[in-house]
Amino acid sequence: MQSNRDLIVEPIGLNVETLPKPLNWCELFGNDHPVEMEIGTGKGTFLTEQAKGRPGTNFFGIEWANWFWKYASDRLRRNGCLNARAVRAEALFFLREYVPDASLSVLHVYFPDPWPKKRHNKRRLIQSPFLEQAVRILVPGGRLQIVTDHQDYFEQIEPTVKASALKVIEYNRPGSAAEGEFVGTNFERKYRREGRPFYALAAVKGEGNGRGDAETRGRGEGEEGDCKLQSANCKM
Ligand SMILES: C[S@@+](CC[C@H](N)C(=O)[O-])C[C@H]1O[C@@H](n2cnc3c(N)ncnc32)[C@H](O)[C@@H]1O
Repeated sequence: MQSNRDLIVEPIGLNVETLPKPLNWCELFGNDHPVEMEIGTGKGTFLTEQAKGRPGTNFFGIEWANWFWKYASDRLRRNGCLNARAVRAEALFFLREYVPDASLSVLHVYFPDPWPKKRHNKRRLIQSPFLEQAVRILVPGGRLQIVTDHQDYFEQIEPTVKASALKVIEYNRPGSAAEGEFVGTNFERKYRREGRPFYALAAVKGEGNGRGDAETRGRGEGEEGDCKLQSANCKM
């Protein structure tokens, strides 16, 4: 493990206390490209692969653990991903306080902490308050993507998403996922070696702020959606 000393977060890692409320993505990235967000970046494997492969999209990571935030920021920097930023913050707080309405094209949540003990279930991220924020911050037609290895958590996630203003659709594998992978994060690779099953779900925000139009849903391995959605609130 690299020590904190070896990790350089600038210019990718941001100090949450210096950020304006609400954020202006165009000012932050210096362009009006669509913005995708990952919650719980861990070491930043997904964000780095995506940011490297898709320079026409901006990527923003939220990570609570200080060392992981530093590691992911340093890794993005080493890979020259100037279309990425990462902040150390608690996700629900950050969404509520900093993220503008209708401003994200995709919200990615991969292997969220499952809090498996019954008395800790209330700490799980994906519950109604989080979904209300997802509905608020996605652009019309924007997508939420979730993968977990935890069946009990998934059995809570699926009905909660279905009860929200999002419409469940077919899950799209990101292009950076390797053969047979759902998404290709560190946790997926580790859990795959252990032979665990995976559960994936995608949902879309409708054009009229309500349910999406797509009719299908699944746990399969479709092609990556070609997301060309623009942030609705960009004023350069
Ligand atoms: C199980 S790990 C998965 C990491 C990565 N997504 C992967 O698949 O390899 C969950 C990550 O989410 C972060 N996390 C958990 N709850 C969070 C929250 N409320 N806000 C921000 N990050 C959170 C944890 O610190 C951890 O790095």
